[in-house]
Amino acid sequence: MEATPEAFMEPFARRAKEIVGDRAKVFMVGRVLDLATAERLLDDGAADMIALTRQQIADPFTVKKTREGRTHEINKCAGINFCVERLVDNREVTCAINPSAGREAAWGEGSLQPVGAAAKRILVVGAGPAGMRMAGIAASRGHRVTLVDREHEAGGNWNTLRKLPSRKGWAIAIDNLVRLCANNGVDVQLGVEATPEWIQAQAADAVVVATGAHWEKTGESPARPDREHIPGIDSLCVLDAGTAVKRALANASALGQRVLIVDDGAGYVPFGLAELLADAGVAVEVISPQLLLGEELLKSLDMPHVFPRLVAKGVKLTPQTFVDSIDGTTVTYGFIWGGPRRTANFDTVVIAMHKAPNADLYFALKGKVKELYRIGDCVAPRKAAAVGYEGEKLGREI
Ligand SMILES: Cc1cc2nc3c(=O)[nH]c(=O)nc-3n(C[C@H](O)[C@H](O)[C@H](O)COP(=O)(O)OP(=O)(O)OC[C@H]3O[C@@H](n4cnc5c(N)ncnc54)[C@H](O)[C@@H]3O)c2cc1C
Ligand SMILES: Cc1cc2nc3c(=O)[nH]c(=O)nc-3n(C[C@H](O)[C@H](O)[C@H](O)COP(=O)(O)O)c2cc1C
Ligand code: SF4
Repeated sequence: MEATPEAFMEPFARRAKEIVGDRAKVFMVGRVLDLATAERLLDDGAADMIALTRQQIADPFTVKKTREGRTHEINKCAGINFCVERLVDNREVTCAINPSAGREAAWGEGSLQPVGAAAKRILVVGAGPAGMRMAGIAASRGHRVTLVDREHEAGGNWNTLRKLPSRKGWAIAIDNLVRLCANNGVDVQLGVEATPEWIQAQAADAVVVATGAHWEKTGESPARPDREHIPGIDSLCVLDAGTAVKRALANASALGQRVLIVDDGAGYVPFGLAELLADAGVAVEVISPQLLLGEELLKSLDMPHVFPRLVAKGVKLTPQTFVDSIDGTTVTYGFIWGGPRRTANFDTVVIAMHKAPNADLYFALKGKVKELYRIGDCVAPRKAAAVGYEGEKLGREI
């Protein structure tokens, strides 16, 4: 299921053409990602002109590359709407998967500098978005790059995201990076656990650590500055969001029949998990101490798709509410502003609040390899656009 499938405006464009006939020309927008689709829509008479907006932010050379038979090099728009989030925040538009967008003066066409005889042997640990972008860009400049990951598929965290309801766009984002690496001859080795000893034995000229982050479950929140964790957080029924999502993707009933999701991040994950569980008949409540649940979904225009689905599936959405304590499977919680408390039993309480960097490998290697770099969530957990930017920057500078 996709919130906005490719060319989703086609029926509306056709209807507009029926109504206006020859009295006006009809332009169509809406997730047209390639020129072959645009041509089909024109040939079929669906519209008189097709506009590609976000696709040209994701890759301003879409038309040029198509004309030159280089469609395998096109960076496809993943529909993540980070560009729209930036608009909403009144900031310069950039793209979650094209770090050059909005930075054309510095990183525009022709700005990649070939390294020639200064080529290095670079080992990148972590085939998430940060490591893959760094590897692909560095290799395009002439470095010899090996990229390793312990998982058997590349993509890092995006591989989890793409499996959640209506998040198929992340698969497009991964495919872009897989092609970036393949097109530039990166040696990608999957299923490889990189230990400090193994890395030192590779004797690369430079090592780039891009090992990502993990969810924490202390329950520490600015909503309760008086305490460092939720009392009872060590109860067996409490899971961090990363573990909960992985278990639920393997078996949507694995978290039991009653689940409370405690969100303090405002992103999509708690709601994706809620939908996954609700689809399996699980009773789910999402609470957050924030004034508005899922504020990021409002900015990315996901809220009008996601929230009605959740409500229709019986998910309870409760903002301005936080946990007082957990005792076994009994949770006491209530309005952040005071008033009566509620007590209820849950099979699982999911904490979707903070992430912490996986930085141990980086610190274990400090001073032990010739050149060492750290990029992506293992510096500080952030959004996709930030880690892609860091990968691109190092790939251009090394
Ligand atoms: C659940 C979740 C939801 C998110 N939702 C959004 C969203 O909606 N929008 C958005 O913009 N951003 C989102 N993000 C943020 C975005 O996914 C991350 O910022 C991004 O994935 C971080 O990229 P990375 O390459 O730094 O790390 P990761 O994607 O975590 O990749 C790290 C890789 O390193 C590998 N690795 C680690 N240690 C080793 C080792 N010793 N040997 C070999 N391999 C190793 C791991 O297997 C992994 O593949 C979300 C993040 C999470 C966790
Ligand atoms: C960053 C950004 C800015 C936009 N600005 C405008 C605008 O000023 N006026 C407008 O009518 N549409 C604007 N749009 C909407 C697009 O014109 C288009 O209708 C929409 O993005 C859907 O088409 P697409 O799937 O090809 O991106 C904007 C879209 C984006 C992503
Ligand atoms: S931010 Fe997302 S939606 Fe916007 S152009 Fe980039 S990939 Fe497409």
